[in-house]
Amino acid sequence: MDKKTIWIIANWKSNKTISEALQWLDFVGPKLPKKGNLKIVVCPPFTDIEEIKKNIMVNNYPLIVGAQDLSPFDEGPFTGEESARILADLVDLVILGHSERRKEFAETDEMVAQKVIQAKDFQIMPLVCVQNDKTPVPPNVKLVAYEPVFAIGTGQSDTPQNADGVAVSLIQQYGEDLQVLYGGSVTSENAKAFLQTAHLSGLLIGGASLKEAEFVKIVEIASSLS
Ligand code: PGA
Repeated sequence: MDKKTIWIIANWKSNKTISEALQWLDFVGPKLPKKGNLKIVVCPPFTDIEEIKKNIMVNNYPLIVGAQDLSPFDEGPFTGEESARILADLVDLVILGHSERRKEFAETDEMVAQKVIQAKDFQIMPLVCVQNDKTPVPPNVKLVAYEPVFAIGTGQSDTPQNADGVAVSLIQQYGEDLQVLYGGSVTSENAKAFLQTAHLSGLLIGGASLKEAEFVKIVEIASSLS
């Protein structure tokens, strides 16, 4: 049987200047394995995306670039928003509905669904974050991250068993072709246990993805299983 695809996705949140981002890439880029079923993604702040993208292309690193959000609207008079059409030049994936956006920026399920439509219209793959198996997943979404709020940035991850159970429930509701990732205090210490579960397809990593050596360790663990 073909091995399943594993996603390792770095969510930098609101961290790293352009020069810090390039330093990270200089360290991490050359150490990334080229494997068809291992998809490694970095989601920097908007300001870093262009430089990161150029550097990846010049060096031919096996690294996909994603955004952390995009506008629910089309291009137009929406001050401060980054539309999908503009982002599509630079990114292939977008994180949507992260719990920090829901909590701090009053993002609703309806807005997330609107953003999914925008992303799909411009061939950007939406990765929708769900807080549990009750969070609605908009139509045509094939990649979700289960991120329990108690586990984000706390050092207190969920158990692999529980995360696997949530993945089972989501797959039952939305179909066999849904890929479910886990996120919330993932480190090089616990990554393997999540990746070895039957139903999880990868990891969404915040804090640990900012540290170059730690991120490379997690990629190496995923690579050994892929
Ligand atoms: P964390 O964040 O790894 O720092 O807990 C994960 C996330 O919020 O995506």
